[in-house]
Amino acid sequence: MARDPRRRGPARLGQIRFFGSVVPADSFREDVIAGLSQPQKALPPKYFYDARGSRLFEAICRLREYYPTRSELELTRAHLDEIRRFAGTGCTLIEYGSGASIKSRLLIEALRPSAYIAVDISADALRGAAAKLRRRFAWLDILAVHGDFSQPLKIPVAQGRGRRVVYFPGSTIGNLTPADAHAFLRMTRGQVGARGAMLVGVDLKKDANVLHAAYNDAKGVTAQFNRNLLRRINRELGADFQPRRFRHYAFYNAALGRIEMHLVSLAAQAVSVGSHRFSFDAGESIHTENSYKYAIGEFRALAASSGFSARKVWLDAKGLFSLHGLAAA
Ligand code: SAH
Ligand code: AVI
Repeated sequence: MARDPRRRGPARLGQIRFFGSVVPADSFREDVIAGLSQPQKALPPKYFYDARGSRLFEAICRLREYYPTRSELELTRAHLDEIRRFAGTGCTLIEYGSGASIKSRLLIEALRPSAYIAVDISADALRGAAAKLRRRFAWLDILAVHGDFSQPLKIPVAQGRGRRVVYFPGSTIGNLTPADAHAFLRMTRGQVGARGAMLVGVDLKKDANVLHAAYNDAKGVTAQFNRNLLRRINRELGADFQPRRFRHYAFYNAALGRIEMHLVSLAAQAVSVGSHRFSFDAGESIHTENSYKYAIGEFRALAASSGFSARKVWLDAKGLFSLHGLAAA
C-alpha cells in the first residue's frame, strides 16, 4: 500500500483514468481548408500541439527569452500559502491545457485536491504528464481528459469531491480572442458553480522589446514550433507544404494588445492539401497565433463580465506575469 508521508497510517492509492477522445479527426481537415480559404489565411493555434509541438513548447518554456513560464513558477512558489488560503484544500482541481502539468505539481502539493482533472488536446502531453503525476502523487485520483476546451466539453466533474477550482495557467487564455475568452470563462463559471473558484495565469502588457524577444528567440525554437504546424498538416492531411519556404514572423500589435505569429511565404508558390490547392504570393502570410496581453484591470473587467469576481492577483518580482484568483460572483 502506498504511503502518503503527510498522513499517519497507510494511505489510499489514488485511481488514474483516461477519458476521451472528443477531438473529431475530421475537424482538423475542415479547419485547415476553411482557414486557408480566407483572404487573410489563418490556422487555429490549438493544432500546434502534436507530440513534436508539445515537446517544442516545453523547449520554449526553458528559453532565456521566454519569461512567462519562469515568472509564473516564481510567483506561484512565492505566494503558495495565500493561493492555498484562497482556493482551499480538498477541492476538485480541474486544469485546462495542462500540458506537462509542471505548475500543477505545486498546486497539488499545496491544495491536496481530492481529485485532479487534466484536460488537454495533446494526447502525448497528457499521457506523459499523467504517468509522472502518478509516480509522484500515488494518493491522488487523476482523470486525464483528451479534449478540446473550445468546444462544449462534457467531463465527469460530478465524481470529484469538494469545491471545484479551475486552473488555467500559462496565459493560454491569451491565445483566445477576448470574445472566446469571455465564452470560455462563462463555461467554467457554469462548471464551478456558486461556491467555485478559478486561478488564471495571465501575461501582462509590457515593454514591446521584452515581448518581441520572447517570441523571436535567438535559437529559433519558436520558429520551429510555428513551422511544425505545416509539417503536421503534411503528415496528417497529405499536404505538400515545404516548411523552409515559410519564414517565422512574430510582432507585437500594440493597437490590439497582442503578439501575432505568422508564417510568411518566401516566394510565390502553390500548396495542395488533399484535393484543395492554395496559392501564396511572395510575402503573403498565414496567421497562426495570437497571444493577448492584459493589464490587470482589463482582465478583471473580462472576468467580471463573465460572472466572476476578481478577488486576488499575484505577480512575480519583476511584474511581468499575473495569476488571478477569481471567485464565482
Ligand atoms: N499549462 C501548461 C501548458 C500551456 S501550453 C503551462 O502553463 O505551461 C498550452 C496547452 O494547452 C498545451 O498543452 C496544448 O496542448 C493545450 N491546448 C491548446 N489549445 C487547446 C484546446 N483547444 N483544448 C485543449 N487543450 C488545448
Ligand atoms: C501556450 N501559449 C500561452 C504560448 C504563448 O505564449 O502564447 C504559446 C507560444 N507561442 C509562442 N511561444 C509560446
